[in-house]
Amino acid sequence: MSKYILSIDQGTTSSRAILFTKDAKVVDTVQQTFPQHFPNNGWVEHDPNDILQTVLSTCKTVLANNQVTAEQVIAIGITNQRETTLVWNKKTGQPIYNAIVWQDRRTSEYCEQIRSDKLSKKISDKTGLLLDPYFSATKIRWILDNVADAQQQALAGELAFGTVDSYLLWHLTAGKVHRTDATNASRTLLFNIHQQCWDEELLTQFNIPHSMLPEVMDSAAEFGSTSSEIFGAPIKVCAMAGDQQAALIGQACFKEGMAKSTYGTGCFLMLNTGDKALTSNNRLLTTVAYRLNGRVTYAIEGSIFMAGATMQWIVEGLKLLEHAGDSEAMVKDVPLDHGVFLVPSFTGLGAPYWDANARGAILGLTRDSGISTIVAAALQSVGYQTKDLQKAMEGDGLRPSILRVDGGMAKNNWAMQFLANILGASVERPALTETTSLGVAYLAGLQTGIYKSTEQLATMWQCDRRFEPTMSIDERNDLYAKWQHCIAQVTLSNN
Ligand code: G3P
Repeated sequence: MSKYILSIDQGTTSSRAILFTKDAKVVDTVQQTFPQHFPNNGWVEHDPNDILQTVLSTCKTVLANNQVTAEQVIAIGITNQRETTLVWNKKTGQPIYNAIVWQDRRTSEYCEQIRSDKLSKKISDKTGLLLDPYFSATKIRWILDNVADAQQQALAGELAFGTVDSYLLWHLTAGKVHRTDATNASRTLLFNIHQQCWDEELLTQFNIPHSMLPEVMDSAAEFGSTSSEIFGAPIKVCAMAGDQQAALIGQACFKEGMAKSTYGTGCFLMLNTGDKALTSNNRLLTTVAYRLNGRVTYAIEGSIFMAGATMQWIVEGLKLLEHAGDSEAMVKDVPLDHGVFLVPSFTGLGAPYWDANARGAILGLTRDSGISTIVAAALQSVGYQTKDLQKAMEGDGLRPSILRVDGGMAKNNWAMQFLANILGASVERPALTETTSLGVAYLAGLQTGIYKSTEQLATMWQCDRRFEPTMSIDERNDLYAKWQHCIAQVTLSNN
């Protein structure tokens, strides 16, 4: 009778509900975007109610459109934008402030104030992360400092913190369950990735009471059941994972050395390092890839803040295109060495630069630079930034055995060919680019016994297209040197 898995993919710019069959075929997808709020320079917020309502309505619509009842859904998997921080009242479920989004840089000054070699080392040793506004801890601190009475309420045990997965689970279970999974916990700056527990020393450092924190589970687990009022009958939530980790699973990168790069709002290159939590000397992050049956698999990650969001700016901000999908046709005749570079550091630069103060720039404009050149430069900026990550990984002695790409921009053949060229490596695109939602569908399937093992899942991965590098080494080196020159200008001008 139960036939489907429902994946919830709560991303930075939209919420999606994807219905999968037991053999991991997409039945239908319903997507809803919601407003982004920019109340100040470098600030990015979401209305928590928008997050919740778009999730509920996309789920209900996808079930109704396909005449699927709650009883026919075996399990729900939740994947989400990571690090985004919510604090709510445990009694009412009401958030006390908007969700502070991962891209938000408001705590960069605070990070500078508390920065010391000792603290940076402690954070990196325990969490695998860096002291940066990107992660949740300083965002929680900001809310507790800036919302009236918040610190007092937190100390009295009245407030709950959660990343988006945890906030959704709380509401789906009508306030009964406060849980998260190890991948999401590993992005908070408060979770000890070696001991797999909240770190008391870091909680003291950020003055965050333990009582605010969710229980940390495996990524495939019995998280709780949705309240019957929501979908007409309870549905078990059996999987939760941060979206980038979910994509790694959806790309079946289960072996050490396999890597994926997801081009969503940002770009996140993640390399599976097996049961070893490797430390990067090049400012990459060490993170939990997934935790199954209590066993942790780690990854090294390079995070870039603007990929698809750059194209969104081109479409919605500059109105140079009607849809991002039109970009491929527009740039097909633009030569790669047109000389224009777009550095999309709109919200600072992530790995490997970690410059919260850098801001965006377009360099190298001439009188004959047109819209198509700027659009090409925007697409190429994603390839150049991925190259930055590749270089950093190489500096750590890591070279992916396979690079699999996914996310909206992976559909753009021109951008993917440029990526293969600038990396000097082959790039594989799967038949199903919905890897994020597929990843949690896989996890939910593992938990409910539909799938037996990650080995079985690996056999299900199918290639759509492989992009091979065709660019000469000289041209590659020349273009990349120019890109690095532009990066130096953007970071220097702000320091
Ligand atoms: O770390 C932030 C990341 O999880 C956001 O992903 O897909 O919304 O760009 P996305």
